[in-house]
Amino acid sequence: MPDSELLKKEDLIEILDSLNIGIIYVDRENRFAFVNKAGEEIRFIKASDRIGKSVLECHSPGVKSKVIDDMKSFQKGDYASRHKMIRSKGKYFDNSYNVVKNSNDEFKGVVLVSQDVTEKIRLEKELKRANEVLEQKVKERTKEITEAYEKLKIANDQLMQSEKMAAIGQFVSGVAHEINNPLDGIQNCIRAVMSNSGNEKLMQDYLPLASEGLFKIEIIVKRLLDYARPHSKEKVRVDANELIYNSLELTKFRLKKKKIDLQLKLNTEPVYVYGEPHYLGQVFVNLIMNSYDAVREDGKLFISTRQQGNTIEIIFNDNGEGISEENLNKIFDPFFTTKQKDNGTGLGLYLSYNVIKDHGGEISAESKLNEGTKFTISLPVFIEEKVISNEELVAG
Ligand SMILES: Nc1ncnc2c1ncn2[C@@H]1O[C@H](COP(=O)(O)OP(=O)(O)O)[C@@H](O)[C@H]1O
Ligand SMILES: [Mg+2]
Repeated sequence: MPDSELLKKEDLIEILDSLNIGIIYVDRENRFAFVNKAGEEIRFIKASDRIGKSVLECHSPGVKSKVIDDMKSFQKGDYASRHKMIRSKGKYFDNSYNVVKNSNDEFKGVVLVSQDVTEKIRLEKELKRANEVLEQKVKERTKEITEAYEKLKIANDQLMQSEKMAAIGQFVSGVAHEINNPLDGIQNCIRAVMSNSGNEKLMQDYLPLASEGLFKIEIIVKRLLDYARPHSKEKVRVDANELIYNSLELTKFRLKKKKIDLQLKLNTEPVYVYGEPHYLGQVFVNLIMNSYDAVREDGKLFISTRQQGNTIEIIFNDNGEGISEENLNKIFDPFFTTKQKDNGTGLGLYLSYNVIKDHGGEISAESKLNEGTKFTISLPVFIEEKVISNEELVAG
């Protein structure tokens, strides 16, 4: 409790004068009754000139009626306080007007508390501007990153395509050999028919054989062309076993040529994953061709698939030359290759890694120099999203 003996009127005035908030008190007769020091500075007035004078005198005629209305409203008790932001002589003031009442709750006057908030507003404006600049920069950056990402995606697609072409170049020599056999057969048929013209029986025997040979060639060429053309990146439900068979169809001639012992241990049931068939197929072709490159004649390649919980595990294991510990850390890097210029692009595993990651899977390698290499791929099992009908929902 303040001791009224201790706190005198002069003390109160000193206290109010020491504040950096302007305080102006207007009595019930609308007269200036008190202006503290900060009030004088902030409002550019001199207390000695104002005390006892009506507030209406210091307002221009245009504002006068508004001030009268305001004072009346305060007197009538329409509101106990008001708040206004005003701008005067290049400065901003936060003004709050509060009704002062006596102990009988009767209107005595209005006290105006005025705070110079110019600096605060300047800082707020600066902050706002800085924020806008920052936002703009973030927007520009996001756009740049999105564009760079799009470009990277396109570049990666082009790399996939060129890696594919390189692979085709590699297994095409096996294919050429395979095409030669039916081609020889067809040639023999044609020769026989031509040198025995008019021999219906011979024609009937040989022409179906020639047609069969053509069909074989057609299938091989179709497969190659299909592998070569760009494919959509649409993800669908696809059986990894089937993709392995397809990849082997493309590479089998090459494997056969090197007399590679291929062992398959594929899951008896289909192993469905959600993926882009062509891109996953490209990963498998690359792994098969890598093993082909790594093994000697009569080497072994073991491929297995199995489902383990929610994961499909696919293994490619060969008994080839293996990878040194030092190189094992680099094989997934773009352009890392230990092969001759025309044999390797160094992109196969880099792209395989990207494709598998893009499918929510993992790919890893274990290897021992001169013993062999094992690649393990894990992919999430395809989970069918069932659309539940309303009736089913109700039936619960
Ligand atoms: N099965 C494997 N056995 C031995 N080395 C391998 C095997 N697979 C990959 N590598 C090594 O990883 C490197 C990178 O492979 P990859 O990215 O497919 O590129 P590329 O086959 O064009 O060289 C190969 O050059 C080889 O050194
Ligand atoms: Mg490769």
